[in-house]
Amino acid sequence: MIIAPSILAADFGNLARDIQMVNRSEAEWIHLDIMDGVFVPNISYGFPVVSAIAKEAKKVLDAHLMIIDPDRYVENFAKMGVEYLSVHYEACTHLHRSLQNIRNLGMKAGVALNPHTPVHLLEDILEECDYVLLMSVNPGFGGQKFIENAVKKVAALKEMILKRGLQTLIEVDGGVNRHNAPILAAAGADALVAGSSVFNAPDPLAEIIALKG
Ligand code: DX5
Ligand code: ZN
Repeated sequence: MIIAPSILAADFGNLARDIQMVNRSEAEWIHLDIMDGVFVPNISYGFPVVSAIAKEAKKVLDAHLMIIDPDRYVENFAKMGVEYLSVHYEACTHLHRSLQNIRNLGMKAGVALNPHTPVHLLEDILEECDYVLLMSVNPGFGGQKFIENAVKKVAALKEMILKRGLQTLIEVDGGVNRHNAPILAAAGADALVAGSSVFNAPDPLAEIIALKG
C-alpha cells in the first residue's frame, strides 16, 4: 500500500520539519492539495509553497488539483518536479485532452472523482488514466469524516480495471485512518492519502506504518 501524507495537515510554520519527517518515514508519496477558492470553497497554497516543498521533499510528489481550468497550470507542476498530477472529472470539459497533456509532459495522469460522481463515468477514459483518485470526503478541507460509500466505489472501479487488464492505480483521499485503511486495501485501493490521521498522531512515523497495514 502506497501512503501519501497530505501536507495540508502539516504545520505550515514548520513545513521543512514536517517534510523531513515524511522523508524519514515509510511513505512513498507526498500529497499536495491545490485549491482555488472556486472549484472548492477554500484556498490552500500555490506555486511558491509547492516549489519550497519540492526542494525539501525526497518522496514522489502527488499533486491534486481542485481548481477550474487546470490545463493552464499543468506545465508549471511538471517543471517543479511533480510526478503524479490529478485533475477533477467535474472540472474538465475536455478531460481526454487534459490527461494527454499531463502525460505528454512526462507525468502520471490522474482523474479525481467527487463523492457523488459514479465510477462508471470513467468507462470511456480509463485507458488514459494512470490513476484514479476517489474522494471519500467532499474536497476542500482536511479533517472531515470518511464517507463509507467510497469503499463500494473502490471495489467497482477495481473490477473495471481488472476486467480490462489495466494497471491503473486507485488512490483514496479523505478521512482515511488506521480503521478504514484495511477495508480500503481489501476493496482494492493501491494508495491512501492521509492528512490529519498522520500529522495529528502522537507518533506520525508509527501511524504511517499502521496505515500501510
Ligand atoms: C481534501 C483533500 C485531502 C485532505 C485529506 O480536499 O483533498 O487530501 O488533505 O485530509 P484528511 O486526511 O485529514 O481527510
Ligand atoms: Zn487531496
